[in-house]
Amino acid sequence: MAPNVDQYSRRITYLRISVTDRCNLRCTYCLPVKDLKLLDHADILSYEEILKVIQAATHVGIRKVRLTGGEPLVRRNFIDFLTSACRVPNLEDVSITTNGVLLKERAQEIFGAGVRRINVSLDTLNPTKYARITGRESFQDVWEGLQEAEAVGFSPIKVNVVAIRGLNDDEFLKFAELSVRRPYYVRFIEYMPIGHDTQWKPEKYISSDEIRSGLESYGPLHKVAPSAHDGPARRYRFESARGEIGFISALSRHFCHSCNRLRLTAGGKLRPCLFADDEVDVKTPLRDGCSQEDLKRLFQEAIARKPMEHHAGIAEGAECLRSMSAIGG
Ligand code: 5AD
Ligand code: SF4
Repeated sequence: MAPNVDQYSRRITYLRISVTDRCNLRCTYCLPVKDLKLLDHADILSYEEILKVIQAATHVGIRKVRLTGGEPLVRRNFIDFLTSACRVPNLEDVSITTNGVLLKERAQEIFGAGVRRINVSLDTLNPTKYARITGRESFQDVWEGLQEAEAVGFSPIKVNVVAIRGLNDDEFLKFAELSVRRPYYVRFIEYMPIGHDTQWKPEKYISSDEIRSGLESYGPLHKVAPSAHDGPARRYRFESARGEIGFISALSRHFCHSCNRLRLTAGGKLRPCLFADDEVDVKTPLRDGCSQEDLKRLFQEAIARKPMEHHAGIAEGAECLRSMSAIGG
């Protein structure tokens, strides 16, 4: 069996890496309700360590890496690291997920480093509501960041919208319109019960099907044929739209059967599944001077420990302790 195929015949080709647990926003739905515990700086993997992990990952068949956080752009010297990451042999794609606050100033450099695909998290188009959700009056920065990303030439530009009842369900048609006017791929993400100490409640959850029927009042949605980079999103497009609409339905349609990913936390743990707290420590071995062969074995262990599926549901609630800000989305 190939080193990156798990016991359920899934080929693992994609690694999401959280480069920091720090963030310049304080989104109410993402962070724990009580105290936010941050890692000591010494416990965060250095860029050299992350690059070693990426190299090893390519040796087990990982071909795509996505850099996340926290917020990746707040980490010092991120662009230099990005440049090195983009040069790792046998890696076909390096992308980033950002909240966009620093995107306007950094878009050019990120592009220059070799990144072409960018995801921007933006849950509202209303500046006042934005400040209420995130704790910062940065809507305009994100908005200008998106425009800059477009001007610089990123493609695709995905806008990730976590759908939360009572929070942004009155804006879905505005997001629909955005996907028509601008070349953005607006993706509605089902609100997931991640982390025990967050504000997730079944009443706040909205299924993709409900969102989709709501959007039909804007116009007919046409299915877009799936392609290689799709991941779990189901894709649609409004007539003569420049962008697209996508749905990521982690709760209403489990996509575990086609899961191709592992996660690396900022603290150096390989996480086989977003919803399960099982983790394989790579930080300790790295600091004990382990070889690329050792790292490769740790990857194979993490792949072997991928569960068949998660059991999170609307009634069941959370299955894992860590909040999204600590895992990296
Ligand atoms: N459910 C769904 N998405 C979430 N995110 C953070 N917490 C949750 C949650 N509970 C999103 C962020 C960002 C991405 C990294 O994860 O908004 O778009
Ligand atoms: Fe993969 Fe776990 Fe997500 Fe399912 S829940 S898609 S197994 S990471």
